[in-house]
Amino acid sequence: APVRYEAERAPATCDGAIESEHAGYSGTGFCNGRNAVGAAARFTVDAPQAGTATLSVRFANGTAAARPADITVNGSAVASASFETTGVWDGWTTKTLTVPVRQGGNTVRLSPTGTGGLPNIDHLDAEVAGDGTTPPP
Ligand code: GCU
Ligand code: CA
Repeated sequence: APVRYEAERAPATCDGAIESEHAGYSGTGFCNGRNAVGAAARFTVDAPQAGTATLSVRFANGTAAARPADITVNGSAVASASFETTGVWDGWTTKTLTVPVRQGGNTVRLSPTGTGGLPNIDHLDAEVAGDGTTPPP
């Protein structure tokens, strides 16, 4: 089963403010990143073994334009995401990404490449599948 990591709860960090003014989020709020290139949201994803993580990022983008971002894991760029408009700020949806992870804690960073910054980020659900190099416990 996937493990949920809330954007508003440590060890996650948000280059902006934790807010709750737009309904429909999980937990106690969401990350409203600063509207700037590189204003990131970071999560620590725990992997029981090295392999591939399927990440579902829940977000809302109430503007008309996409808010693209680079996705890094432990400092390496591994994916990108478009975070297209969701119409309104309380219109949440999920974007699924597949990324490599090592055993243990992995820093997953969503780093916006446009001046609008990130969309509002609610949480990340992570499901890790092993690559077979580490036997399961
Ligand atoms: C509005 C909205 C915020 C959002 C921001 C943005 O201010 O209320 O939740 O983060 O727009 O454009 O990023
Ligand atoms: Ca914002």
